Amino acid sequence: MAKILILFAHPALEKSRVHKRLIRPVKQLENVSLHDLYQVYPEMDIDIAYEQKLLLQHDIIIMQHPFYWYSAPAIIKQWQDLVLEHGWAYGSGGTALTDKKIMNAISCGGSKEVYNREGRNRYTITELLVPFEQTAHLCHLQYLPPFVVHGTHKLKDPDIELYAVQYEEMLIGLANDRITAAEWQQVSYMNDLNLIPKILQS
Ligand SMILES: Cc1cc2nc3c(=O)[nH]c(=O)nc-3n(C[C@H](O)[C@H](O)[C@H](O)COP(=O)(O)O)c2cc1C
Repeated sequence: MAKILILFAHPALEKSRVHKRLIRPVKQLENVSLHDLYQVYPEMDIDIAYEQKLLLQHDIIIMQHPFYWYSAPAIIKQWQDLVLEHGWAYGSGGTALTDKKIMNAISCGGSKEVYNREGRNRYTITELLVPFEQTAHLCHLQYLPPFVVHGTHKLKDPDIELYAVQYEEMLIGLANDRITAAEWQQVSYMNDLNLIPKILQS
């Protein structure tokens, strides 16, 4: 089994509809650790040695966060800036993370339609996530497609439920090595994998 570390960042969890629901079952899942960065580091004073130890103990890292200004909440950047050290994660002798996997699990106010050349946001989510992808590449990690919840402002509770089931199935699939590289390399979003039985979707 693969060990999954969720680096969770939501600066206003009390107002959240999507992420509050997505993380609900996570604590019960075998081999999945939820690490709530804003809860652990309210002053953003990240413990680098502890974070590096956590990374070494896991195989798959998921940065789970709302999409804020086409990127992540600030603590994710702080985490990257401090934890991914030269000589440890990249650069000469920096091979600590080699062959681990990493991905983003995000929610966006915007619909999928507005994230393309003709849409209001002009770029696809895949394009906007390139800094994460390239950071992964430099640190010798495999970057998986993101899990994306679109159009959050218009989602009704049953829609969020469906995404939550999809997310849970993805976590179970990844932990059990049931999602192969051949499969995820063919999709833009992890959601596009056939994660839940059709019967649940109707
Ligand atoms: C500071 C801020 C920046 C945001 N930036 C974006 C953005 O760039 N693109 C987008 O689609 N939605 C954006 N949103 C909307 C959030 O992504 C959306 O409210 C969130 O994903 C909903 O998840 P939640 O219910 O867990 O809070 C932004 C919201 C806030 C508060």
